[in-house]
Amino acid sequence: MKHASLLAAGLSIQGGLAQVNVPPNFEIGVKWQIIIQNTIDIAAPIQPTDAVVWDLDLYHVARTPGIVDYLRSNNPNAILVCYFNAGLAQTSDCDYDTRWANSGLLGNIYSPDEPEFSDERWVNIKNQTARDWMKQRITLARDFGCDAVDPDNIDGYLNDEDGDNGTGWSLSQDDYVTFVTELATHAHSLTTQQGYTMLIGQKNAPELVEQVGGLLDFAVLEDCKTLNDDEDYTFCSDFQAYIAEGKPVFSIEYPSTLGNQDTGACSATGASDAQYTASCDTTKGNSGFSTVLKIQGGDGELNGCTQYCSGGEPGTGVVVTATDPELDGGECPPEASD
Ligand SMILES: *[C@@H]1O[C@H](CO)[C@@H](O)[C@H](O)[C@H]1NC(C)=O
Ligand SMILES: *[C@@H]1O[C@H](CO)[C@@H](O)[C@H](O)[C@H]1NC(C)=O
Repeated sequence: MKHASLLAAGLSIQGGLAQVNVPPNFEIGVKWQIIIQNTIDIAAPIQPTDAVVWDLDLYHVARTPGIVDYLRSNNPNAILVCYFNAGLAQTSDCDYDTRWANSGLLGNIYSPDEPEFSDERWVNIKNQTARDWMKQRITLARDFGCDAVDPDNIDGYLNDEDGDNGTGWSLSQDDYVTFVTELATHAHSLTTQQGYTMLIGQKNAPELVEQVGGLLDFAVLEDCKTLNDDEDYTFCSDFQAYIAEGKPVFSIEYPSTLGNQDTGACSATGASDAQYTASCDTTKGNSGFSTVLKIQGGDGELNGCTQYCSGGEPGTGVVVTATDPELDGGECPPEASD
């Protein structure tokens, strides 16, 4: 009974530890948008108008003054999730030159097989300084008006299994559990500008659900149906543990026919019928998830091109959110650099 009444007040008890005060509209099935490739163009009319949750790059937010007001002038209850690269540091991060570049805390590049990400290096998350710098990114997110964070690349242990040392730091699953737990404790100690608890999600890493799922507030999944993966497993269903606790799960599927990976151009009719159907099907352990279809790879990766499943029919639900590539190279504000 106690739990039920807390939930009614927008509070929930997570991991039996801390009380987390969640905005009432941050609920299962809520419509969302994610754009990481470029910052959104706040001079253009907002699209789609009915997306409540916006997952945008923390440093794009920091470099785009007025972006939070732009989202909230469309929807006062918009929820801004700020993506940051928690597992690697990349040269475009505002704190790269000031902190990471000469820290001795950077290991191997993201993946020898994916040279397009060669400006990203795995961070030694066993080092307290590295963890503190990542926690400061969460504080920065709060200061810039974000309501939540989406910490990417918390699964570096996959590169270091079976004697491999892909990160250069020999990182284990337990190392990442320690890291994510520390990030979550820090996030939950912060109050957002809207007066709620700073929320933190789980990005992919189904192996970690059992250990950190109780502590985290939502999840963001890429290709959980593994439609683009040679392996015939599915990790969507592992995240039903979130749904069972009333926490939203945001999923991204990457149908190759949605747009041009090199140019980022969006197909006006969206993904092919077969890919739309496979991506939007809700019987693959993904019941209750909020799903978007996006372009993967190249300059098109996670740009403004999106197809929503809500239209229910192939060829429908395509939305292109305007982005502003010019602004991405804009100056980092000093507070984002140190
Ligand atoms: C963590 O990294 C910092 C910066 O390179 C270094 O000064 C410190 O000694 C490291 N801490 C540990 C425990 O290795
Ligand atoms: C992992 O790679 C780094 C960088 O090459 C090296 O310094 C370290 O000794 C390696 N660790 C193991 C356990 O092989």
